[in-house]
Amino acid sequence: MKLFFSAISFLFVFVSCNETAEKATPENSEKKEIVYDMYEPSEMANLMNQMYAYNLNVKNAIVSGKDIEEFPLDFLKIHTAELSDFKKRNETFESFSKLFIQAEKELYNPNSEMSETDRFNAVVNLCISCHQTECTGPIPRIKKLLIN
Ligand code: HEC
Repeated sequence: MKLFFSAISFLFVFVSCNETAEKATPENSEKKEIVYDMYEPSEMANLMNQMYAYNLNVKNAIVSGKDIEEFPLDFLKIHTAELSDFKKRNETFESFSKLFIQAEKELYNPNSEMSETDRFNAVVNLCISCHQTECTGPIPRIKKLLIN
């Protein structure tokens, strides 16, 4: 049952992220379905899913009072990872990715004056801010990372 739900949310994410592509090519809707069937996640989509999983673990660690590890260097791939065909790296994306990486680094800064929870939520809010500009589908899922 759990698998069923994640399959549904995966589909939802995928379709929402493709809205731009759909609008761009309204005339060949049959071709689109073939593309859907052969869907392979982009390097960026894989990175995003890793970041999601990683931050879920970080959230659980913070909530249960455990130490968090170090800034995951893999996250720097956000600056270079290839996006799905229908997306382009633009200035908005670049500036949000810089802010996001800064917030991530701050989370692992032992001298920060902000609480760990606030720093973590700042990271998640940057995930959400960037998604509001590019890819709104995963936002409800990302919001679940926030520590209340
Ligand atoms: C700088 C902008 C930006 C930031 C920051 C960002 N995302 Fe994304 N995210 C995107 C874009 C663009 C895509 C679509 C990638 C593609 O299809 O190539 C995406 C896709 C995703 C997906 C869907 C992946 C899939 O399987 O299609 C998830 C889940 C996701 N992001 C979660 C997160 C989480 C969690 C964070 C924060 C830890 C985050 N994102 C931070 C821009 C961003």
